[in-house]
Amino acid sequence: MYCKKFKSTYKNLKVLVTGSTGFKGSWLSFWLNKLNAKVIGVGLKPEKDNILFSSLKLNKKINQHFIDICDYNKLSSIIQKARPDIIFHLAAQSIVSDSYKDPLHTIKTNTLGSTNLLEIVKKNKLKNLIYITSDKCYLNNGDKFSFNEFDKLGGNDVYSSSKAAAETIFHSYYNSFFKKDSKYLKMATARAGNVIGGGDFKRNRIIPDLFKSIKFKKKLIIRNPNSLRPWQHVLEPLSGYLLLGEKVLSNNLKNNLYPSWNFGPNVKNCKRVIEIIKKFYEYLDIPKKYKILGNSKMNEAKILRLNINKSNQELLWKPKLNLDQCIRLTSNWYINYLINEDVFNITNEQIEFFSEK
Ligand SMILES: NC(=O)c1ccc[n+]([C@@H]2O[C@H](COP(=O)([O-])OP(=O)(O)OC[C@H]3O[C@@H](n4cnc5c(N)ncnc54)[C@H](O)[C@@H]3O)[C@@H](O)[C@H]2O)c1
Repeated sequence: MYCKKFKSTYKNLKVLVTGSTGFKGSWLSFWLNKLNAKVIGVGLKPEKDNILFSSLKLNKKINQHFIDICDYNKLSSIIQKARPDIIFHLAAQSIVSDSYKDPLHTIKTNTLGSTNLLEIVKKNKLKNLIYITSDKCYLNNGDKFSFNEFDKLGGNDVYSSSKAAAETIFHSYYNSFFKKDSKYLKMATARAGNVIGGGDFKRNRIIPDLFKSIKFKKKLIIRNPNSLRPWQHVLEPLSGYLLLGEKVLSNNLKNNLYPSWNFGPNVKNCKRVIEIIKKFYEYLDIPKKYKILGNSKMNEAKILRLNINKSNQELLWKPKLNLDQCIRLTSNWYINYLINEDVFNITNEQIEFFSEK
């Protein structure tokens, strides 16, 4: 029920969203706009096949700046001018396979870009920052069943290590500069799992790949069929970020709390890639057309589960959707897209449906 309160929390607030042109950032900006927040967006221009930002008419609904967060001066002048009440930082190079192709770019964006933001927040004495990293920030040597917020950070691939580094940099800024300023937590990091939902058009993510294979009548290529992942609908972690934002805004969390929270699904939503794909085909009621290419050479963690007890206990956050509902919402969105490309209404309806739960 906590989603219902978001309207009174975010109404008329100036909210800066970095990564507003991406998958999660577009959903978040759209949701915040529905809550009557004044959204300022920062991000690169959407990639060619990513229609989400434009279909949601976000260029008209939010104050969007197409800039690189590694450009300190540009980012600084936008933030200085806007002086947002709260910042949600989602901008990142978010694809593991791309970090193999261009490791330097991934590290630059995810660490230098994030440090620029922290430095600008510090210089301008801003408060209220929700800093999104990833479940992949935990050191995963395949010997642990699930990860809680106090587990060791690290990465055996460049994307994961860039997210672990982004976390470490956050904690160093927090302890060095921010913690002493208030007896309440005014900033926090959020770590979520494998997010699915309509409007993800990234390459090398299994669900967008599935729907592209359907659109172009091709076989889906599956590279890591047995990797276990914590599947969750995009609105689940976003509700966690908004709830965390609300607690931070209202001085609800004492600064003796550890400022990081996991927002993963229930254990039942942790399934192997191949099981998820089969469930999608069953829901869509179409013949299975896929090819398994064996395990990829990339060093992607095979088992990844998030322990969400801390979010449960300290924020009273919990996942609302079971796996079948996640699959239904995601499939219905893409079916709409494949039929008529009008995704505005279905995105709106899905946020309303979720907010009522
Ligand atoms: N999608 C998932 O399953 C998932 C899981 C865990 C964590 N995350 C994290 O959540 C965040 C959002 O993920 P997403 O799926 O929406 O990713 P996405 O790739 O769809 O969007 C990334 C956003 O960051 C922006 N961006 C990238 N480089 C930038 C730069 N140099 N300067 C300015 N903007 C830049 C892009 O323009 C885009 O708006 C990321 O931090 C990602 O690492 C995502």
